[in-house]
Amino acid sequence: MAQIIYHFPKGFLWGSATASHQVEGGNTNNNWYAWEQQEGRIKNGHHSGLACDWWGGRWKEDLDRAAETGQNAHRLSVEWSRIQPSPDHWDEGALDHYRKIIRGLLDRNLTPMVTLHHFSDPLWLMETGGWENDKTPALFAVYTRKVVEALKEYVNLWIVINEPNVYTNGGYMDGTFPPGKHSNVAAFKVMLNLLRGHGAAYRVIHELQPEAQVGTCTHYRSFKAAHDWNPLDHFIVNQLNATFNDSFANATTSGRFAFLNKTVSVPEVLKTQDFVGVNYYSRDMVQFTLKPGDVFNKRYYPPDAQLSTTGFIANIPEGMFDALKWAVKFRLPVIVTENGIEDADDHLRPQYMLEHIHQIWRGLNFNWPVKGYFHWSLVDNFEWERGWTQRFGLWGLNPETQARIRRKSVDLYEAICKTNAITSDMVEKYAPEAYKRLFPE
Ligand code: IFM
Repeated sequence: MAQIIYHFPKGFLWGSATASHQVEGGNTNNNWYAWEQQEGRIKNGHHSGLACDWWGGRWKEDLDRAAETGQNAHRLSVEWSRIQPSPDHWDEGALDHYRKIIRGLLDRNLTPMVTLHHFSDPLWLMETGGWENDKTPALFAVYTRKVVEALKEYVNLWIVINEPNVYTNGGYMDGTFPPGKHSNVAAFKVMLNLLRGHGAAYRVIHELQPEAQVGTCTHYRSFKAAHDWNPLDHFIVNQLNATFNDSFANATTSGRFAFLNKTVSVPEVLKTQDFVGVNYYSRDMVQFTLKPGDVFNKRYYPPDAQLSTTGFIANIPEGMFDALKWAVKFRLPVIVTENGIEDADDHLRPQYMLEHIHQIWRGLNFNWPVKGYFHWSLVDNFEWERGWTQRFGLWGLNPETQARIRRKSVDLYEAICKTNAITSDMVEKYAPEAYKRLFPE
């Protein structure tokens, strides 16, 4: 049978994404390190430790792997606690180190995308209240200036803050992230200050680098009413969308920050996205409930869904389409800044990857301006409060020996990146179970 090919636009970015605390190792001056030292905070008592030893130099071999297998971009983050280890000290050596890594990306023909804040905060900042402190957005802008001055020669694509919604939810609502609070009042303040920090950083970047492309990076969760006929389920879906998916990014177009049933005016963040970054992993079914402790909603995966190794992610590719549909409403270019699955034995990842990329291709057919896809992640890394129990890497990692293990998903992603397409041959070879869905007769 003739091969069917779904092409992607010329210049499409095919990359993978990482974050400083998750891959560098030896980050001992931030809130996550302190959190890891507290009993019961990280699954199985795991520590980030050496992580993927990028600070020790193993970034070179991992980026070689990315480049040799056809990727043309990489998203990484810089670590505030390294660059500004104390309020009155800048570590030029750390900035040099990042400069070296980013030059390393360019040497390998990998377009760099740099995130300025990816969950971890300097200890000194947390001692003064972190993002609960109204002075933090200005401090973040100063840090941004320092980083952009150092890297602007090499970097054009910037993400200011990774997943402010997850940071706020984890740290201040469900308490799984540091500082482990459960306070809607604190959550509102934190999210608002993250937004103000985003706005201030956006302006600093453009002042120093007018041609830069600066984006947000929302963790988009697809929510579906468990019972389509039930208005209460729909009501909860709307609430979740408004709080989790919409509040941060919407403020950049409306000038109003609406979160947790409160709205404030934020004209200073208007028009502070040049592209929309969207991280999509999965979809929840949502049911209204009066059960005590469930705050009116029960969320679950469909019982027949294919699940990742620890059940953390369900393979629901249609949610990627929802995510893109949500992102294009901002009328800006869109980049899928994260998507992936924890799958230690790599049995589901090829299918998950193909089906999710297929949804991006569907979106492109509506002329949606999707410019790139960054797989989470290049190599297994430290998964926050889930420690090393989840394996998101294209390459596996033994954190004890630092040995990398090439998973078969690498071969598939290599084929996708190198042909700038998904094809029926790829699906037949790597995920035959998805064939009929991707190529209906
Ligand atoms: O590892 C994280 C990443 O830091 C942020 N987005 C989700 C990923 C998978 O849990």
